[in-house]
Amino acid sequence: MFINNSLINKIINAKEIVFFTGAGISAESGIPTFRGKDGIWNKLKPEELANFNAFLKNPDMVWEWYQYRRQIIEEKQPNAGHYAIVEFENLFNNVTVITQNVDNLHNRAGSKKVLELHGNIEKNFCIKCKTRYDNLLISENKTAPKCKICGGLVRPDVVWFGEMLPQDVFNNAEKMAMRSDVCFVIGTSAVVYPAANIPIIAKQYGSLLIEINITNTELSHYCDYSLIGNSGEILPNILNEIKKLKNI
Ligand code: OAD
Repeated sequence: MFINNSLINKIINAKEIVFFTGAGISAESGIPTFRGKDGIWNKLKPEELANFNAFLKNPDMVWEWYQYRRQIIEEKQPNAGHYAIVEFENLFNNVTVITQNVDNLHNRAGSKKVLELHGNIEKNFCIKCKTRYDNLLISENKTAPKCKICGGLVRPDVVWFGEMLPQDVFNNAEKMAMRSDVCFVIGTSAVVYPAANIPIIAKQYGSLLIEINITNTELSHYCDYSLIGNSGEILPNILNEIKKLKNI
């Protein structure tokens, strides 16, 4: 894809860059998105699986579904889009990834500053005493485990519908969005709030908003640039153009 030079020139002068990402950035790794043609929420009801009451009613079913997703994620690898973002860290002063994804792929790719707005599927905690149970083995935990200390149910550390986002993480994300000179909005339908406020805040505070998506979204009209295509191709292209201009 042709990336115009005036855009590259604007990015190159940025000091602080935010990458706001959604399920689309992991699509090329083979992880299904939520709302696309083969999206998870087209086949399954979120209220039956991603909801605290559903977990209390049927913990094993909800747990099994998360173990199934963990299994898929474990077998997949970060893609060229995730790795391109890591490389931006070497070229700019301050790079922050703000992700709605729970798949941990930004961390696995090597990004140093990742703010996970919706939690992380590899982590768990007891609903009663909050003891953490991270990295439980998938093969050994087919049904919802009980806390070894208080006997409470152990749940995935992800944000379910109707739940608050982790406040400190969200506050930090807001702060980074306000400070950013450039904010990339990548692979998200940008319809789930409050997360979807992040790019809006960035733009309100003067950031250049650049969307990368295979299609237009609710946010496209608000963005300064809307680049249509796979993030795993467009991000490395942008990176190469930046390197050329910087003579790297
Ligand atoms: P969605 O499934 O709503 O949107 C995925 C977006 O990625 C769509 O706009 C696609 O067009 C785009 N896309 C797909 N493949 C792409 C590719 N290769 N390159 C670039 N873009 C691509 O996923 P999210 O916006 O992440 O929340 O969904 C937001 C939240 O809704 C999720 O975090 C989750 C879900 O319910 C919770 O679980 C709390």
